[in-house]
Formats: sequence, C-alpha cells, structure tokens
Amino acid sequence: MKRHALYPGTFDPVTMGHMDIITRGANMFDRLTVVVAANIEKRTLFSAEERMAMIRKSTAHLSNVDVCQLNGLLVHYARKVGAGAVLRGLRAVSDFEYEFQMAGMNRKLAEEIETVFLMSAEATTFLSSRLIKEIAKEGGDVGPFVPKHVAPALVNKLCEG
Ligand code: COA
Repeated sequence: MKRHALYPGTFDPVTMGHMDIITRGANMFDRLTVVVAANIEKRTLFSAEERMAMIRKSTAHLSNVDVCQLNGLLVHYARKVGAGAVLRGLRAVSDFEYEFQMAGMNRKLAEEIETVFLMSAEATTFLSSRLIKEIAKEGGDVGPFVPKHVAPALVNKLCEG
C-alpha cells in the first residue's frame, strides 16, 4: 500500500458523505490530503478558501489529514508531492461510469498512481452537495447531513446572496 493518498473533489460544501470517506481513508493511509479543486467547470457557492477552511475545521481531529487547493491536473500534483493513490467514494451505480472514465484517464496520464474506491456508507449514499444547497436554500434542515459548523455557514452564505 502506498502511504500518501489524495482525496480530490469540489466539496461545495463538505458533507457527511465526504467525511465518511475521509475518516475511513485516514485509517487506510499514513497521510491523506483532501484536495479542493479550484479550476473546475462547476460554479461554486463557496470560494476555494472557504471550502478548504470548512474541511480543515471538520477534520481537525484527524492528525494525518491535511487540506490543499488544486489548480492544475491531479496527477501532476500527486507526482509533485509523492502521493501514490487517489481515493474516491462510490455512492451508487450512477457514479461508476464517470469514476471509471476519470480513473482510466488518470491511469493513462500517470500509470504509477492507483485510484482506490470506497463504497460510501449506506446512510450517506443519497447525499450530494447540490441537494444540500437546495434544501438549505428552501429553509430545510441540513444539520444531519453536514459537519456541525457547515449548516450555519450555508445559511449565512445564502443570506449574503
Ligand atoms: N458522499 C456524498 N457526496 C459525494 C461523495 C460522497 N462520498 N462523493 C462525491 N459526492 C458528491 C459531491 O458532493 C458532488 O456533488 P454535486 O455534484 O452535487 O456538487 C458530486 O458528488 C461530485 O463529486 P466530486 O467529488 O465533487 O466530484 P467532482 O466531479 O466535482 O470533482 C475532480 C472531480 C475535482 C476530482 C476532478 O475533476 C479532478 O480531478 N479535477 C482536477 C483536474 C484533473 O486532473 N482533471 C483530469 C481528470 S481525468
């Protein structure tokens, strides 16, 4: 097993689904870096700095987890920091095709970097950041689905808008 893994994503915002993968990944690897993609097509509600700050706060109890921002290709970053694996969560069959394509492309770009998939915990398979934002926007309670401090951050952000 390679010792350092990257867990990339948009995390807009981080959810309990992401936390499930981060917690289990932190047990599997010596070091886990949560990589917050900044240069993505998606329009995000939170800035990259805000997304990173929320993940840092949520993972403060995990001593081998750190957080960074990504601007270029993931595999280039993995090579730069000497990470041997990319960690991804699979929630449903619908995730598979996209993940299959991304893992395949990353392998073409950097053969030595393995993509490792974890099946999401049953209680989090229905979660997505988009749904969380939609519920919060309509005044629903997102408390059970996100780390404790994320729910008020969402309300504040939506009020700003
Ligand atoms: N639990 C709950 N929700 C989860 C989840 C889990 N375990 N895993 C993913 N999700 C949700 C996310 O919240 C997100 O929801 P949304 O679409 O409603 O916002 C959705 O699933 C997509 O997940 P995410 O991990 O954010 O994937 P992404 O498609 O936004 O990110 C990157 C893809 C950033 C990993 C990818 O584009 C990348 O590596 N970019 C860097 C550039 C690069 O190297 N590109 C070449 C790739 S071959």
